[in-house]
Amino acid sequence: MISRRITPLAGILVGSSLLLVQPALASPPTLSPSVLFPSAVSPPVSQVEKKPVAEGSGGAVSTVDLDASKAALGVLREGGNAMDAAVAAAATLGVTEPYSAGLAGGGFIVYYDARRKKVHTIDGREAAPKAMGPASLEGIPFDDAVTSGLSAGVPGSVAQWELALRRFGTLSLRQALKPAIDVATRGFKVDQTFYDQTAANAARFKDFTSTAKLYLPGGAPPPVGSTFRNPELADTYRRLGRLGGEWLYGGALGAEVVATVKKPPVTPGSTRNVRPGLMELSDLKAYRALERPPTKVTYKGMDVYGMAPPSSGGSTVGEALNILEALPEVGEHEYLEASRLAFADRGKYVGDIPGVPLKELLSDGFAKERACLIGERAMPHPAAPGDPDGMYGPCQAAPSAEAGETAPEVAKEGPETTHLVVVDRWGNVVAYNITIESTGGNGIVVPGRGFLLNNELTDFTFGPAPGDPNLPAPGKRPRSSMAPTIVLNDDRPLLALGSPGGSTIITTVLQILVNRWDFGMSLPEALAAPRATQRNTAQTQAEQAFIDRYGAELTRQGHSLVLNPEIGAATAVEFLRHGRLQAVAEPTRRGGGSALVVNERG
Ligand code: DON
Repeated sequence: MISRRITPLAGILVGSSLLLVQPALASPPTLSPSVLFPSAVSPPVSQVEKKPVAEGSGGAVSTVDLDASKAALGVLREGGNAMDAAVAAAATLGVTEPYSAGLAGGGFIVYYDARRKKVHTIDGREAAPKAMGPASLEGIPFDDAVTSGLSAGVPGSVAQWELALRRFGTLSLRQALKPAIDVATRGFKVDQTFYDQTAANAARFKDFTSTAKLYLPGGAPPPVGSTFRNPELADTYRRLGRLGGEWLYGGALGAEVVATVKKPPVTPGSTRNVRPGLMELSDLKAYRALERPPTKVTYKGMDVYGMAPPSSGGSTVGEALNILEALPEVGEHEYLEASRLAFADRGKYVGDIPGVPLKELLSDGFAKERACLIGERAMPHPAAPGDPDGMYGPCQAAPSAEAGETAPEVAKEGPETTHLVVVDRWGNVVAYNITIESTGGNGIVVPGRGFLLNNELTDFTFGPAPGDPNLPAPGKRPRSSMAPTIVLNDDRPLLALGSPGGSTIITTVLQILVNRWDFGMSLPEALAAPRATQRNTAQTQAEQAFIDRYGAELTRQGHSLVLNPEIGAATAVEFLRHGRLQAVAEPTRRGGGSALVVNERG
């Protein structure tokens, strides 16, 4: 049994190694850990099992993966705070969910600092290299761009981890990477999801010598039930911990990334046209993770905080909530219509550009003007964007789409990417989306280093599209839909949530909030409920159970529903009464997630 006395510079165990804990500057004074984690009621981390709902106290975690949740739980149990645990979980996801997350990806963190009662965000989004311009992606078939050096953005995750730990954590990067190193060394059990994702990628993985060697050992995906180890990634994490982010941002690891991007290790004989990338070491040197003010709207008296541009998550979820609040009642029809309108505005106004009219997009006046357009029947398609100019009049007839104007159809987006929530005993909260974009990123493993590169730059508009706020530009970050979200009531946290799923992330977060606060579902019910996603498209994609339950009525109202078998893979934590926490993950989508609490009966 290890000592649980937490003091500044106390020794703690993470995995099997003694770590030094720095003073928990971001956290209030500690309570007695022996009260918080009575051993009789809290199984050791090694024995916790995968389940979608956990209730208790002293801290909580929800991720898509048991190993990642365990990594976070171990850090929390040993005195680390929510940011320490979130970085540990994210790095572990880079091992066990390498097709969704990794050190060469990017992401967004929304963080509630309990001591200062303040919400912060950290933008670790990938950036375009300096040599990229508005026409760099023009004319390239989307699938070709995905599997290329050209789509690899300057990675943001490592800079984000360092900034997050420096600003809000208590562990060093080296300490926070330890659980992930243990999992990469020891290995993890291949589940059906990992197998399926590898198999779905096999055709392109085999086209790169480095990727085939790692993920197609013996020429095929590792079988379900086998143990998958990634010693090269363990070594990369170990060196990263020792050498720090500089190793990537201008150092030798960066040089290897650049070499891989510029000359991908294509398997001899492959006929794939793999376009080289534009990234230089100077782009890595120039990269910074950034703190940005969060977006904020007030919905039914609660403050909903989200991620500002370059993500469209906070503004689009926020605008849709404001529209819903301006309506006399909220049902499934209103949810879909509010989302449709918010997506019309997202497309016209939101990107990584100066002058996004964020304040007006999130104003009650604009929301009322937009809400006027929602009637008994589904709006004509596509909805035109509004005019967030600060001058909002009484309701007028809906503007019809200009002749010939059509919103692009949106392909079905799978539940790649990942989201996690961590809460610590002090009430600090992390909602964290991390991604390498497509399942398997650009499909290219950096030789000998054990990690895949991202293809985040395919989130740019390919063009030509004059005036589009999301065209590529030097150093620009592609518009994201990631929407890590924290809800406060009277400055106290109530709920934190998020999801993967490309642009369906926005509708999944919105739908869960509506399920919880408008339809009165419990949080587990709100996550499990069947989903639908309307993103200003002619058809509304919906899961089968949603179509079965609401399809007839919505069709009468003019909606056209089309099947999307699975939308999102959410994770969330709710603050219940008397200091209790409810951690919730998906019960079934994407193979189900893992919710844990520090003290199960507290
Ligand atoms: O930033 C974004 O919105 C996307 N690159 C996230 C990727 C994702 O969720 C994958 N899903 N289809």
